[in-house]
Amino acid sequence: MVQHLLAIDDVQEDFKRILKWAIEFKRLWKQGDEVALNFLPLDTMAIGSIYEKPSTRTRVSFEVGVQRLGGSALTLLKNDIQLGKSETISDTSQVLSRFLGGMTYRCFGHEDVEELAKHATVPVINALSYKHHPCQAAADLMTVLEHHDDTEDLTVSWVGDGNNVLHDLMLACAMLGIDFRYACPEGYEPAADVVERTEGYARTNGSSVTHTTDPIEAVKEAHVVYTDVFISMGEEHLKDKVAAFEGYQVNEAMIQHMDPAWSFMHCLPAHRGEEVTDWVMDHEHSIVFDQAENRMWAQMSLMTYLINPGAWDMMCEFMAIE
Ligand code: CP
Ligand code: NVA
Repeated sequence: MVQHLLAIDDVQEDFKRILKWAIEFKRLWKQGDEVALNFLPLDTMAIGSIYEKPSTRTRVSFEVGVQRLGGSALTLLKNDIQLGKSETISDTSQVLSRFLGGMTYRCFGHEDVEELAKHATVPVINALSYKHHPCQAAADLMTVLEHHDDTEDLTVSWVGDGNNVLHDLMLACAMLGIDFRYACPEGYEPAADVVERTEGYARTNGSSVTHTTDPIEAVKEAHVVYTDVFISMGEEHLKDKVAAFEGYQVNEAMIQHMDPAWSFMHCLPAHRGEEVTDWVMDHEHSIVFDQAENRMWAQMSLMTYLINPGAWDMMCEFMAIE
């Protein structure tokens, strides 16, 4: 059975180890460890990435990450391939499976990445759909673990839209037993099925999930505040939506309500002056560029885990990850 990553809880069982692997591998690689530098689990493989929407971080982090693991990265932009014009997702998936060791797909509807995975004989990784952004959540939780030793007493808060980034972030926090609060205006709440799954993980792991429409209540004494754009890709025609987010900007006044050791997170790209101010983005407590870098390390762990699990296990043993 091929394992895919369409939402972050697809790797629920090994999530903590996947993050520890990424943190430790990054450390070893940066200090020039020979084993890490010569670890090439994707040797002779090509990994293809289909993009129906623009991307900076996802595209570059996958291309560089695949190269560092010994594979070759193929970026397939929608306008350059047959998909969506004269070929179905199912046929595309079956053809690409004959050439590639794995595929990533950035699409609009989540059902499109589900369809690609359904017909693929190699692992498919969701590189952002309208509903989920699992690679972002893996990088985000890796970054949280790097910056906060103690997750027992940690509270992560979301202020903003009930979107794809929130969905995987809330699932990921609950999977690690981190208390999670989210402020979303009425009508912009996360999907009910994702909230239900999140509450299930939180119950199992002894943490809480709290919803409010008051951003200050959400961030009160919290350790991390996370936001994202109010208008996601594909919603450009919904400009009026912004009016619902009055009072939701993460700014200096909002930060005053947080724990003094606060961190600010954003998946980027940010609309400075809209959902977040320059003061917050450029503050020394902002960890947004660590998150961006960690996209690559987290995806290196995920790709190895899905595409070459034997090599991933061996590296776990070498790095003493239990
Ligand atoms: N955060 C993120 O997915 O960024 P890109 O759209 O630049 O890939
Ligand atoms: N919610 C945003 C995330 C971008 C990385 C979007 O889907 O456009």
